Amino acid sequence: METKAILKQAPLFRGLDDEAFEALSSSMGELVLDRGAVLFHEGDTGNQLYVVVDGKLKLGRHGATGRENLLAVLGPGQMFGELSLFDPGPRSTTATAVTKCVLRVLENADLAPWLAGRPEVAKGLLGQLAGRLRKANDVVSDLVFSDVPGRVAKALLDLAARFGERTHNGLVVHHELTQEELAQLVGASRETVNKALADFAARGWLRLEPRSVTILDLERMNRRAR
Ligand code: CMP
Repeated sequence: METKAILKQAPLFRGLDDEAFEALSSSMGELVLDRGAVLFHEGDTGNQLYVVVDGKLKLGRHGATGRENLLAVLGPGQMFGELSLFDPGPRSTTATAVTKCVLRVLENADLAPWLAGRPEVAKGLLGQLAGRLRKANDVVSDLVFSDVPGRVAKALLDLAARFGERTHNGLVVHHELTQEELAQLVGASRETVNKALADFAARGWLRLEPRSVTILDLERMNRRAR
C-alpha cells in the first residue's frame, strides 16, 4: 500500500478532505528506526505524536520488579504518542521498534491549530482515545476472568486482525515477536504461554514458526478466545 493510503487509515486524518490531508501530512517529518531501537522511554517528556507507516513497534511498561509488560504492538496506519499531548506529563510507555520502522512525526505545536480549526481532527483523536479505553477495559476483564490459553488465543487473533495474511495454508500472522514478548503481551510467564501454544498446535488449531504463527482453525481459536 502506498504511504498516502496508509496515513489515511490513522485516526488523525479521518474525515479530512484531500486538501487538508495534504496540508497536515506535509507538516509531518519522517523517521526511520532500526530493529530494536528505542524511540522514547516511559517517563520521558514528549511533545510529538507518531503514525507508523511501515514495520512493527511495541509499547511496553516496566513493573516494579523490572519485568516488562507489553500494552500493544502497532503496525502501519496506527498512531501513538498523543497521551502526553492531551494530558501533559511523562510518556506512559516505552516505544521500541520490533522490526525496522518508518514513522511520520507531528509536533504538538503543528497539531494545535488543527485541533482548534478542524473538528474532524479532534474527533478522530477522541475516537482513538475512546477505542483504546474500551480495549484497556477488555484487557483488565480478561486478566481477571480469562485463563492464560484464552488470553493467548485473543492476543493471536488481535495480531491476526492487523498482520494476518490469508493463504491456502491458513491465516499466516507474521507478528515478529519472540516467545518472551508474546508472554509479555499476554501478561503471563513464558512457560505458561508456551504450554498454551503447544497445546493449540497439538490440537491442530495452529502451526508455530519462529516469529510467526499460522492459524489453521479460526473458528476454534475464536471460541477459545471468548
Ligand atoms: P504517550 O504517553 O505520549 O506515549 C506513550 C504512548 O503509548 C501513549 O502516549 C499512547 O499513545 C500509547 N499507549 C499508552 N497506553 C496504551 C495502551 N494501553 N494501548 C495502546 N497504546 C497505548
